[in-house]
Order: sequence, then C-alpha cells, then structure tokens
Amino acid sequence: MDHFQSLNVDEICNQISSNTYYNSDSVITTENVKKIKNELSLWNFKINKNDILPTKTFNGWFHSMAIAKSKTVCDIVTSKTLLDICSKYIGPEFRLKAHRVYSTLSGAKMPWHTDDKAYQKKKDYKGLIFIVYLKDVTKGEFQIIKDSEKFSKNFKEPNIRDYIIDNEYSDKIISFKNPIGSLIIYNHKAIHRAKPYFDPFWMRTSLFIQVDNNVEDSEKVIINPSYLNHIDDRLKMFLGFGKKSEMPHEPVVTGYHTLDLLNLIKIISNCLLSIFILKPYYLIRRSKLLKKLFRR
Ligand SMILES: [Fe+2]
Repeated sequence: MDHFQSLNVDEICNQISSNTYYNSDSVITTENVKKIKNELSLWNFKINKNDILPTKTFNGWFHSMAIAKSKTVCDIVTSKTLLDICSKYIGPEFRLKAHRVYSTLSGAKMPWHTDDKAYQKKKDYKGLIFIVYLKDVTKGEFQIIKDSEKFSKNFKEPNIRDYIIDNEYSDKIISFKNPIGSLIIYNHKAIHRAKPYFDPFWMRTSLFIQVDNNVEDSEKVIINPSYLNHIDDRLKMFLGFGKKSEMPHEPVVTGYHTLDLLNLIKIISNCLLSIFILKPYYLIRRSKLLKKLFRR
C-alpha cells in the first residue's frame, strides 16, 4: 500500500498555506510506479488503434487520459486522501481539471508560469496541483518560487519572463531533486517551472493532477467503470458528471509534425507494408469470396 493513503490531510493543507508547497518522499511505492508504466505501456506509439493512447509533442510524451487506462493512476487520482486534501484546501466545490502522465525531453524549455488559467487566460480560481515523480529526478527538476502564490496576481499573463525571476526572485527558488515516488503539492497560483536540462538519453517522467473550484468546465474525463467501486456525490462532482467538458486536452499542439523521426519512419514503413502487401492481399481474398458468392 502506498504511503499516500495515510498522509495527514491537515498537516498538508497547513504546509501549503504557510509554505507554498507540500513535499514528501516515498509516497508512491516503486512497485506501483512500475505498474503505472506497464499499464500505460509508456511510450509505445500507435496510430489508428481503437484504444486510449499517448500523444507526442515537440517537448515530450503525454498520456492525458491515464485514469481510463491505468487502475493505479485512477486509484491515486480518485483517492479519498486526494479528495480530502481538495475539500480541506479548496472548499466544498472542486473538480478534476486535468491530469496526465508525461515525459519531458532534454532541451524542452518550460517558462516560469502559474497554472491558474483556463483557455490560456488567467482566472481567479482556487486550486491545487499534485505532482508525483515516476523517476528519480536529478535534473530537469520541478522548481517553485516560495510565497509566489501571494503575489503572482501582479502578473497579467500566466507566463513570466526569465529575467524577472532572475532579477527579483532568484533567492526564493526552491528545487525538487527528489527520488521516484515523491509527491509535491502546491497552490496553482504559485510560479513554477521544470528546470531546463540537457541529456538526450534521459527523460523526466511524472504524474500531474490539477484540481480547481471551477466545477463548470474541464478537460474531458474518460473513466473505466471497472476501476471505480463506489461513486458518491463528491466523486461525481470531482469527475464532472453532467457538466461541460470542453477544455482542450493539454498540450494542444500535436500532429505529424510533432512526432520524432523514428516514429515517422515507423509510420511510413507501416504505410508501405499496408499499400503494397496487406491491402492487395485483402483485396484478392475479398474478390475470391465475392466470386464464390456470385457463383451461387
Ligand atoms: Fe505548470
């Protein structure tokens, strides 16, 4: 069993209120991290498959419907502990806005930003972000500006230029080089980023969960009913039953142009195989069947 289930909700909420964030190591077991990776078959790219699949962007891999594919992720996202933290910190109304298991690539540049936004515009919602490291993170770590949830409203846009942080807040940067299974929770108004890093042979993999008090809209949530044994009113509200789900799944910029060279070559090879071998084979087989039918 994960340590996550036995976390002290009051202590966590007090720490976020007084300290901007809560952080604890070994919250999810390595065994459960392995399960997540297997259940999501990270990062096995497929196209035109009737399945719930990840997406490749310029900066990494994203599985934005992971609770429908991984029972382990679903158990964490819909856990009593997580919902109790949200109830206590956000208030009686809150909803899962987005979640994803993602890997960011070497060279990816995430600007300093806040997550209190919808459709790329800042909103005055109350919310929390949960991040679980699914790898030991020694580079490309999450960073946060201490106390920034109290003054980030002074910035009109969600993204904040590097030089502002370098000049005014560099002494307030907290870095989280933490082991696999660590948990970080923070107020979504806090300024943060993933520190840029360079290592083409390594990717940071994490689980991201965002919850806020805008219950009227969110990214579309797909569930696997077999993973949910008891759906009470609070869980229904959290998952957005009967409410609009029109926010686009982040990240939005995806397509053939964001695929890497290896997967594009894989697609071309599969296309050639289908055009020159599989399609002719099925065509011949079908025409033989048709001939038989007409003879009757
Ligand atoms: Fe963020």
